[in-house]
Amino acid sequence: MFAVEDTSVQVCWDRLPPGAVALEAGGSRVEVEGGGGPGSVSLDGLPPDAALELTVTAHGQPRRRARRFRTLPPPPGRLLSRFATVNDLHIGERGFGLVQRLHDDGGPDGEPYPVRCARAAVREAVAWGADTLVAKGDLTWSGRPGQWETIAGILGSAGVPVHAVPGNHDTGRKSVEGGPVLRGHGVDMRDGEWAVDLAGIRVVMVDSTWRGHSRGELDEARRARVAALAAGGGGPAFVALHHYPQPFRLPHMYPAGLPADQARALLDALAAANPSTLVATGHSHRHRVHRRTPVRVAEVGATLHYPGTWAGYAVHEGGIRQVVRRVAAPEAMAWTERTRRVLGGLWGWWASGRLADRCFTLGWAGPR
Ligand SMILES: [Fe+2]
Ligand SMILES: [Fe+2]
Repeated sequence: MFAVEDTSVQVCWDRLPPGAVALEAGGSRVEVEGGGGPGSVSLDGLPPDAALELTVTAHGQPRRRARRFRTLPPPPGRLLSRFATVNDLHIGERGFGLVQRLHDDGGPDGEPYPVRCARAAVREAVAWGADTLVAKGDLTWSGRPGQWETIAGILGSAGVPVHAVPGNHDTGRKSVEGGPVLRGHGVDMRDGEWAVDLAGIRVVMVDSTWRGHSRGELDEARRARVAALAAGGGGPAFVALHHYPQPFRLPHMYPAGLPADQARALLDALAAANPSTLVATGHSHRHRVHRRTPVRVAEVGATLHYPGTWAGYAVHEGGIRQVVRRVAAPEAMAWTERTRRVLGGLWGWWASGRLADRCFTLGWAGPR
Protein backbone atom coordinates (compact mmCIF):
# COMPACT_ATOMS: atom_id res chain seq x y z
CA MET A 1 0.00 0.00 0.00
CA PHE A 2 1.95 2.98 -1.22
CA ALA A 3 -0.47 5.90 -1.00
CA VAL A 4 -3.52 6.68 1.07
CA GLU A 5 -5.92 9.57 0.54
CA ASP A 6 -9.24 10.48 2.13
CA THR A 7 -11.25 8.32 -0.27
CA SER A 8 -8.69 6.20 -2.15
CA VAL A 9 -5.55 4.09 -1.80
CA GLN A 10 -2.83 3.13 -4.27
CA VAL A 11 -1.78 -0.49 -4.03
CA CYS A 12 1.46 -1.56 -5.76
CA TRP A 13 3.16 -4.92 -6.23
CA ASP A 14 6.34 -6.27 -7.71
CA ARG A 15 4.64 -9.51 -8.83
CA LEU A 16 1.32 -11.30 -8.47
CA PRO A 17 0.46 -15.00 -8.83
CA PRO A 18 -0.91 -15.98 -12.25
CA GLY A 19 -4.65 -15.70 -12.92
CA ALA A 20 -7.24 -13.22 -11.74
CA VAL A 21 -6.43 -11.42 -8.50
CA ALA A 22 -9.09 -9.39 -6.64
CA LEU A 23 -8.11 -6.50 -4.37
CA GLU A 24 -10.83 -5.23 -2.04
CA ALA A 25 -11.15 -2.56 0.63
CA GLY A 26 -14.02 -0.55 2.09
CA GLY A 27 -16.56 -1.82 -0.44
CA SER A 28 -14.32 -1.08 -3.43
CA ARG A 29 -13.09 -3.98 -5.57
CA VAL A 30 -10.63 -4.16 -8.46
CA GLU A 31 -9.72 -7.31 -10.34
CA VAL A 32 -6.41 -7.52 -12.18
CA GLU A 33 -4.68 -10.19 -14.20
CA GLY A 34 -1.66 -11.50 -12.27
CA GLY A 35 1.44 -13.24 -13.49
CA GLY A 36 3.16 -10.21 -14.96
CA GLY A 37 5.68 -7.81 -13.51
CA PRO A 38 5.20 -4.84 -11.20
CA GLY A 39 1.89 -3.00 -11.24
CA SER A 40 -0.47 -0.75 -9.38
CA VAL A 41 -4.18 -0.02 -8.92
CA SER A 42 -6.19 2.63 -7.19
CA LEU A 43 -9.14 1.66 -5.00
CA ASP A 44 -11.52 4.61 -4.97
CA GLY A 45 -14.76 5.61 -3.29
CA LEU A 46 -13.61 4.66 0.23
CA PRO A 47 -15.04 6.26 3.36
CA PRO A 48 -12.77 9.03 4.72
CA ASP A 49 -11.04 8.80 8.11
CA ALA A 50 -12.00 5.13 8.45
CA ALA A 51 -10.15 2.02 9.65
CA LEU A 52 -10.24 -0.45 6.76
CA GLU A 53 -8.50 -3.57 5.58
CA LEU A 54 -7.17 -4.55 2.20
CA THR A 55 -7.84 -8.13 1.19
CA VAL A 56 -6.34 -10.05 -1.71
CA THR A 57 -7.94 -13.05 -3.37
CA ALA A 58 -5.69 -14.86 -5.81
CA HIS A 59 -7.10 -17.30 -8.35
CA GLY A 60 -8.16 -20.51 -6.58
CA GLN A 61 -6.97 -19.27 -3.18
CA PRO A 62 -8.92 -18.18 -0.10
CA ARG A 63 -9.25 -14.46 0.51
CA ARG A 64 -6.50 -13.16 2.80
CA ARG A 65 -5.98 -9.92 4.65
CA ALA A 66 -2.99 -8.06 3.26
CA ARG A 67 -2.97 -4.88 5.30
CA ARG A 68 -4.95 -2.79 7.78
CA PHE A 69 -4.93 0.94 7.08
CA ARG A 70 -6.74 4.16 7.80
CA THR A 71 -7.95 6.63 5.17
CA LEU A 72 -6.92 10.23 5.83
CA PRO A 73 -9.34 12.77 7.23
CA PRO A 74 -9.94 15.52 4.67
CA PRO A 75 -8.77 18.97 5.79
CA PRO A 76 -11.55 21.18 7.24
CA GLY A 77 -13.77 23.16 4.87
CA ARG A 78 -14.48 23.06 1.17
CA LEU A 79 -12.00 21.79 -1.43
CA LEU A 80 -10.69 24.88 -3.24
CA SER A 81 -8.03 23.60 -5.63
CA ARG A 82 -5.70 20.74 -6.50
CA PHE A 83 -2.16 21.01 -7.72
CA ALA A 84 0.74 18.59 -8.09
CA THR A 85 4.52 18.64 -7.97
CA VAL A 86 7.29 16.72 -9.71
CA ASN A 87 11.00 16.96 -8.96
CA ASP A 88 14.27 15.26 -9.81
CA LEU A 89 13.26 14.21 -13.30
CA HIS A 90 16.92 14.17 -14.41
CA ILE A 91 16.32 14.16 -18.17
CA GLY A 92 19.57 12.90 -19.70
CA GLU A 93 20.59 10.59 -16.85
CA ARG A 94 22.00 7.33 -18.23
CA GLY A 95 22.20 4.99 -15.26
CA PHE A 96 21.62 4.69 -11.54
CA GLY A 97 23.55 3.17 -8.64
CA LEU A 98 26.36 4.16 -6.33
CA VAL A 99 28.55 1.06 -6.58
CA GLN A 100 27.26 -0.82 -9.62
CA ARG A 101 25.31 1.17 -12.16
CA LEU A 102 22.00 -0.07 -13.46
CA HIS A 103 21.33 0.71 -17.08
CA ASP A 104 18.10 1.02 -18.97
CA ASP A 105 16.48 -2.08 -20.41
CA GLY A 106 14.77 0.15 -22.98
CA GLY A 107 11.14 1.15 -22.98
CA PRO A 108 8.55 -0.19 -25.42
CA ASP A 109 8.99 2.87 -27.65
CA GLY A 110 12.74 3.26 -27.16
CA GLU A 111 12.45 6.30 -24.90
CA PRO A 112 15.09 6.52 -22.17
CA TYR A 113 13.83 5.86 -18.64
CA PRO A 114 13.95 9.50 -17.39
CA VAL A 115 11.69 10.54 -20.28
CA ARG A 116 9.26 7.65 -19.78
CA CYS A 117 9.00 8.39 -16.05
CA ALA A 118 8.62 12.17 -16.46
CA ARG A 119 6.00 11.87 -19.18
CA ALA A 120 3.95 9.38 -17.16
CA ALA A 121 4.28 11.39 -13.92
CA VAL A 122 2.92 14.53 -15.59
CA ARG A 123 0.09 12.62 -17.28
CA GLU A 124 -0.93 10.84 -14.05
CA ALA A 125 -0.76 13.98 -11.90
CA VAL A 126 -3.07 15.81 -14.30
CA ALA A 127 -5.41 12.80 -14.48
CA TRP A 128 -5.54 12.84 -10.65
CA GLY A 129 -7.05 16.31 -10.93
CA ALA A 130 -4.15 18.73 -10.62
CA ASP A 131 -5.05 22.01 -12.29
CA THR A 132 -1.51 23.37 -11.88
CA LEU A 133 1.91 21.69 -11.90
CA VAL A 134 4.97 22.77 -9.95
CA ALA A 135 8.42 21.40 -10.91
CA LYS A 136 10.97 21.65 -8.08
CA GLY A 137 14.31 21.29 -9.77
CA ASP A 138 16.75 18.77 -11.23
CA LEU A 139 14.63 18.85 -14.33
CA THR A 140 17.71 17.79 -16.30
CA TRP A 141 20.82 15.72 -15.66
CA SER A 142 23.32 18.40 -16.67
CA GLY A 143 21.44 21.35 -18.16
CA ARG A 144 22.45 20.63 -21.77
CA PRO A 145 20.37 22.23 -24.56
CA GLY A 146 18.85 18.94 -25.75
CA GLN A 147 17.86 18.00 -22.20
CA TRP A 148 16.12 21.36 -21.75
CA GLU A 149 14.26 20.87 -25.03
CA THR A 150 13.03 17.45 -23.92
CA ILE A 151 11.80 18.51 -20.49
CA ALA A 152 10.29 21.71 -21.88
CA GLY A 153 8.31 19.62 -24.38
CA ILE A 154 7.04 17.28 -21.65
CA LEU A 155 6.10 20.02 -19.18
CA GLY A 156 4.77 22.33 -21.88
CA SER A 157 2.30 19.71 -23.09
CA ALA A 158 0.87 19.00 -19.61
CA GLY A 159 -2.36 20.78 -20.51
CA VAL A 160 -2.28 22.84 -17.28
CA PRO A 161 -0.09 25.81 -16.21
CA VAL A 162 3.41 24.71 -15.13
CA HIS A 163 5.77 26.66 -12.86
CA ALA A 164 9.38 25.51 -12.46
CA VAL A 165 12.51 26.24 -10.44
CA PRO A 166 15.94 24.75 -11.20
CA GLY A 167 17.98 22.31 -9.11
CA ASN A 168 21.72 21.78 -8.80
CA HIS A 169 21.81 19.44 -11.80
CA ASP A 170 20.31 22.23 -13.94
CA THR A 171 22.91 24.79 -12.88
CA GLY A 172 26.24 22.96 -13.07
CA ARG A 173 29.32 24.63 -14.50
CA LYS A 174 28.63 23.32 -18.01
CA SER A 175 24.86 23.89 -17.90
CA VAL A 176 23.15 26.41 -20.13
CA GLU A 177 20.26 28.62 -19.03
CA GLY A 178 17.01 26.64 -19.20
CA GLY A 179 14.56 29.49 -18.62
CA PRO A 180 14.31 30.67 -22.25
CA VAL A 181 13.69 27.13 -23.54
CA LEU A 182 11.04 26.46 -20.89
CA ARG A 183 9.32 29.78 -21.48
CA GLY A 184 9.36 29.04 -25.22
CA HIS A 185 7.16 26.02 -24.41
CA GLY A 186 4.87 28.04 -22.12
CA VAL A 187 6.49 26.88 -18.84
CA ASP A 188 6.90 29.62 -16.23
CA MET A 189 10.48 29.85 -14.91
CA ARG A 190 11.81 33.16 -13.58
CA ASP A 191 14.87 34.34 -11.69
CA GLY A 192 15.01 34.32 -7.91
CA GLU A 193 11.67 33.95 -6.17
CA TRP A 194 8.11 34.74 -7.16
CA ALA A 195 4.53 33.88 -6.24
CA VAL A 196 1.62 32.26 -8.05
CA ASP A 197 -1.85 32.54 -6.52
CA LEU A 198 -4.12 29.50 -6.76
CA ALA A 199 -7.58 29.17 -5.20
CA GLY A 200 -7.01 28.95 -1.45
CA ILE A 201 -3.21 29.06 -1.50
CA ARG A 202 -0.25 31.10 -2.65
CA VAL A 203 2.58 29.07 -4.19
CA VAL A 204 5.99 30.66 -3.63
CA MET A 205 8.62 29.46 -6.12
CA VAL A 206 12.22 29.68 -4.87
CA ASP A 207 15.41 29.09 -6.84
CA SER A 208 17.70 27.69 -4.11
CA THR A 209 20.62 26.79 -6.37
CA TRP A 210 24.22 27.99 -6.07
CA ARG A 211 25.69 27.74 -9.55
CA GLY A 212 28.38 25.07 -9.83
CA HIS A 213 27.61 23.61 -6.39
CA SER A 214 25.48 20.70 -5.28
CA ARG A 215 24.24 22.27 -2.06
CA GLY A 216 21.80 25.16 -1.91
CA GLU A 217 22.15 28.81 -0.99
CA LEU A 218 19.64 31.43 0.24
CA ASP A 219 21.10 34.59 1.71
CA GLU A 220 19.34 36.83 4.21
CA ALA A 221 17.88 39.26 1.68
CA ARG A 222 16.39 36.43 -0.35
CA ARG A 223 15.02 34.69 2.76
CA ALA A 224 13.27 37.95 3.69
CA ARG A 225 11.76 38.18 0.19
CA VAL A 226 10.54 34.55 0.40
CA ALA A 227 8.89 35.26 3.78
CA ALA A 228 7.30 38.46 2.46
CA LEU A 229 5.92 36.59 -0.54
CA ALA A 230 4.56 33.82 1.71
CA ALA A 231 2.71 36.42 3.79
CA GLY A 232 1.68 38.59 0.86
CA GLY A 233 -1.19 36.43 -0.37
CA GLY A 234 -3.16 37.04 2.80
CA GLY A 235 -3.81 33.30 3.23
CA PRO A 236 -1.94 29.97 3.39
CA ALA A 237 1.31 29.45 1.45
CA PHE A 238 3.14 26.57 -0.20
CA VAL A 239 6.87 27.19 -0.62
CA ALA A 240 8.50 25.11 -3.38
CA LEU A 241 12.28 24.82 -3.63
CA HIS A 242 14.78 22.18 -4.66
CA HIS A 243 17.08 21.88 -1.63
CA TYR A 244 15.83 20.31 1.59
CA PRO A 245 16.70 22.12 4.85
CA GLN A 246 19.60 20.45 6.63
CA PRO A 247 18.79 19.84 10.28
CA PHE A 248 22.46 19.88 11.33
CA ARG A 249 25.35 22.21 10.62
CA LEU A 250 27.37 19.44 9.01
CA PRO A 251 25.58 17.53 6.25
CA HIS A 252 24.64 14.11 7.67
CA MET A 253 23.68 12.59 4.32
CA TYR A 254 24.42 12.84 0.65
CA PRO A 255 23.67 15.14 -1.12
CA ALA A 256 23.99 18.20 1.13
CA GLY A 257 20.92 20.45 1.14
CA LEU A 258 20.37 23.99 2.34
CA PRO A 259 22.93 24.65 5.14
CA ALA A 260 21.38 24.41 8.62
CA ASP A 261 21.94 28.05 9.60
CA GLN A 262 20.25 29.30 6.42
CA ALA A 263 17.53 26.65 6.65
CA ARG A 264 16.68 27.48 10.25
CA ALA A 265 16.59 31.19 9.49
CA LEU A 266 14.31 30.59 6.49
CA LEU A 267 11.88 28.41 8.44
CA ASP A 268 11.84 30.85 11.39
CA ALA A 269 11.14 33.73 9.01
CA LEU A 270 8.31 31.78 7.35
CA ALA A 271 6.77 30.83 10.71
CA ALA A 272 6.85 34.47 11.81
CA ALA A 273 5.48 35.77 8.50
CA ASN A 274 2.86 33.09 7.85
CA PRO A 275 2.48 30.04 10.12
CA SER A 276 -0.02 28.58 7.63
CA THR A 277 2.82 27.49 5.37
CA LEU A 278 3.90 24.12 3.99
CA VAL A 279 7.42 23.87 2.54
CA ALA A 280 8.13 21.17 -0.06
CA THR A 281 11.51 20.18 -1.49
CA GLY A 282 13.30 17.54 -3.54
CA HIS A 283 17.03 16.85 -4.06
CA SER A 284 17.32 14.01 -1.50
CA HIS A 285 15.38 11.55 -3.72
CA ARG A 286 13.59 10.29 -0.62
CA HIS A 287 10.35 10.93 1.30
CA ARG A 288 10.52 12.51 4.73
CA VAL A 289 8.46 14.94 6.77
CA HIS A 290 10.32 17.29 9.09
CA ARG A 291 7.96 17.53 12.04
CA ARG A 292 9.99 19.53 14.53
CA THR A 293 10.58 22.55 12.31
CA PRO A 294 8.75 25.88 12.85
CA VAL A 295 6.69 25.12 9.74
CA ARG A 296 6.13 21.67 8.22
CA VAL A 297 8.61 20.55 5.54
CA ALA A 298 8.02 17.65 3.13
CA GLU A 299 10.83 16.11 1.09
CA VAL A 300 9.49 14.30 -1.99
CA GLY A 301 11.38 11.69 -4.01
CA ALA A 302 12.40 11.56 -7.66
CA THR A 303 10.18 10.55 -10.57
CA LEU A 304 12.77 8.17 -12.01
CA HIS A 305 14.27 6.11 -9.16
CA TYR A 306 12.41 3.81 -6.82
CA PRO A 307 9.73 4.42 -5.78
CA GLY A 308 9.33 6.90 -8.68
CA THR A 309 6.77 9.45 -7.51
CA TRP A 310 4.87 12.70 -7.89
CA ALA A 311 2.97 14.54 -5.15
CA GLY A 312 -0.63 15.79 -5.21
CA TYR A 313 -2.05 18.52 -2.98
CA ALA A 314 -5.74 19.05 -2.17
CA VAL A 315 -6.21 22.59 -0.85
CA HIS A 316 -9.18 23.06 1.48
CA GLU A 317 -10.37 26.13 3.36
CA GLY A 318 -8.87 24.87 6.62
CA GLY A 319 -5.80 22.90 5.53
CA ILE A 320 -3.99 20.90 2.88
CA ARG A 321 -3.65 17.19 2.12
CA GLN A 322 -0.53 15.72 0.53
CA VAL A 323 -0.49 12.43 -1.32
CA VAL A 324 2.61 10.93 -2.90
CA ARG A 325 1.79 8.43 -5.59
CA ARG A 326 4.06 6.11 -7.52
CA VAL A 327 4.18 6.68 -11.25
CA ALA A 328 2.00 3.76 -12.26
CA ALA A 329 2.61 3.46 -16.03
CA PRO A 330 4.05 -0.02 -16.68
CA GLU A 331 6.89 1.38 -18.81
CA ALA A 332 7.97 3.55 -15.85
CA MET A 333 7.38 1.06 -13.07
CA ALA A 334 9.30 -1.74 -14.81
CA TRP A 335 12.38 0.50 -14.49
CA THR A 336 11.79 2.06 -11.03
CA GLU A 337 11.15 -1.38 -9.53
CA ARG A 338 14.60 -2.48 -10.74
CA THR A 339 16.22 0.47 -8.96
CA ARG A 340 14.67 -0.64 -5.66
CA ARG A 341 17.44 -3.22 -5.31
CA VAL A 342 20.29 -0.70 -5.52
CA LEU A 343 22.67 -0.88 -2.52
CA GLY A 344 21.53 -4.41 -1.74
CA GLY A 345 17.93 -3.24 -1.35
CA LEU A 346 18.79 -0.46 1.11
CA TRP A 347 17.78 2.11 -1.47
CA GLY A 348 14.17 0.89 -1.55
CA TRP A 349 13.85 1.23 2.20
CA TRP A 350 15.67 4.58 2.43
CA ALA A 351 13.90 6.32 -0.43
CA SER A 352 10.34 5.27 0.43
CA GLY A 353 10.15 6.67 3.95
CA ARG A 354 7.03 5.81 5.93
CA LEU A 355 3.46 6.14 4.70
CA ALA A 356 3.02 9.12 7.07
CA ASP A 357 6.01 10.83 5.38
CA ARG A 358 4.22 10.64 2.05
CA CYS A 359 0.54 11.09 2.81
CA PHE A 360 -0.81 13.44 5.46
CA THR A 361 -3.40 16.06 6.24
CA LEU A 362 -2.19 19.36 7.68
CA GLY A 363 -4.56 21.85 9.28
CA TRP A 364 -3.58 25.48 8.89
CA ALA A 365 -2.48 27.38 11.96
CA GLY A 366 -5.06 29.45 13.83
CA PRO A 367 -6.03 33.01 12.86
CA ARG A 368 -3.06 35.21 12.05
FE1 LIG B 1 18.16 15.08 -8.07
FE1 LIG C 1 19.43 17.93 -6.57
